[in-house]
Amino acid sequence: MACTDNAMRALFLLALVCAAHAGKDTKESSSAPAKEDGDAKAASGPGGSFDITKLGASGNGKTDSTKAVQEAWTSACGGTGKQTILIPKGDYLVGPLNFTGPCKGDVTIQVDGNLLATTDLSQYKGNWIEILRVDNLGPAVWSKNSCAKKYDCKILPNSLVLDYVNNGEVSGITLLNSKFFHMNVFQCKDMLIKDVTVTAPGDSPNTDGIHMGDSSGVTIVNTVIGVGDDCISIGPGTSKVNITGVTCGPGHGISIGSLGRYKDEKDVTDINVKDCTLKKTSNGLRIKAYEDAASVLTASKIHYENIKMEDSANPIIIDMKYCPNKICTASGASKVTVKDVSFKNVTGTSSSPEAVSLLCSDKIPCTGVTMDNVKVEYSGTNNKTMAVCKNAKGTATGCLKELACF
Ligand SMILES: *[C@@H]1O[C@H](CO)[C@@H](O)[C@H](O)[C@H]1NC(C)=O
Ligand SMILES: *[C@@H]1O[C@H](CO)[C@@H](O)[C@H](O)[C@H]1NC(C)=O
Ligand SMILES: *[C@@H]1O[C@H](CO)[C@@H](O)[C@H](O)[C@H]1NC(C)=O
Ligand SMILES: *[C@@H]1O[C@H](CO)[C@@H](O)[C@H](O)[C@H]1NC(C)=O
Repeated sequence: MACTDNAMRALFLLALVCAAHAGKDTKESSSAPAKEDGDAKAASGPGGSFDITKLGASGNGKTDSTKAVQEAWTSACGGTGKQTILIPKGDYLVGPLNFTGPCKGDVTIQVDGNLLATTDLSQYKGNWIEILRVDNLGPAVWSKNSCAKKYDCKILPNSLVLDYVNNGEVSGITLLNSKFFHMNVFQCKDMLIKDVTVTAPGDSPNTDGIHMGDSSGVTIVNTVIGVGDDCISIGPGTSKVNITGVTCGPGHGISIGSLGRYKDEKDVTDINVKDCTLKKTSNGLRIKAYEDAASVLTASKIHYENIKMEDSANPIIIDMKYCPNKICTASGASKVTVKDVSFKNVTGTSSSPEAVSLLCSDKIPCTGVTMDNVKVEYSGTNNKTMAVCKNAKGTATGCLKELACF
């Protein structure tokens, strides 16, 4: 994944246990990893354990422990049976970590301490922690972190990158003040993300909580995200996503998109967002498509249910003329088709008068929009609750009457 530049504080607290299971193909790790598809063959053999402090790492928060952690991965990933990488209590300063599979056995990375991202900018070529081409990434255990140090940093790697990971679980981790996206899920299949906490200031740029693209079968549960950009963003090529029990705020909400910005983007379909709370976010449930779209694609079968808004601006917004910072080269309407989107039991308060905005294009209207029990009220006193509906077709039942677009 690419990274560009930016200024952000960087301190990451990470408590992560992951198990990397052998992919069936060790000689062609660069070919079509999305098809490797969780080889169920159990690893066998005696296994091993690698304590990074025995490999030269120091938990004093100052000594660069990158080499020891990387060495532990190489050994563990190359070993058969159950392999454990142990990162004991302490603060370990590390540069970029590259955990590339497939591995021969089951690898568990148990982080009981804190991993701190180095501020030595010259060390970063890409992201901070990359886990690539690993099948069956196992569950994590929570460990308490209490690190209050801050590092200044001038580049923006993503904190935790999962590329080509099939059948994985990431849980119980805290990601704090990433330089760019906190977690980036790319070309992954069947990922469970649960009990994760993501925290960054509300005004920190591009610090999306969890971004995903070209992935399928991503489940996010019981996760608390407060960041400076989208709490969750679902990019092109993503399908079969279930988001349940997520609290978002501050942040830009739970977004689908941006869509249509680049060439050859694939459809987004079968997205379910349920039992979520949005607190003081600048958008709530949003679908955004660039107005000068470079791709023709469809976003469909999107279902939102039991969503609570607490003073969020634009609680429901479909924006097909999205053009942040006015960077679009042509004005117009996106070539993205948005259809079969349902909003069921969306309640609470809006900090903007427009609680519902369906801003679809005249060339490609949004169709199949269902609003059922949508009751979000403007919390201010100088205006009234309203819906702005353009080129949207659908049905509304049991909604606040000001919000019924149909
Ligand atoms: C990570 O490691 C793999 C395999 O060792 C290598 O092919 C790849 O180039 C590395 N990536 C980075 C960013 O160093
Ligand atoms: C998402 O939830 C639906 C309904 O509970 C379920 O049928 C589907 O299998 C789930 N998808 C994933 C990827 O877990
Ligand atoms: C509507 O959603 C809220 C959570 O936002 C939930 O507490 C409530 O039970 C839901 N109502 C129905 C009828 O499902
Ligand atoms: C009420 O809000 C709408 C939409 O933001 C705005 O256009 C209008 O000017 C506002 N009215 C008042 C009285 O502030």
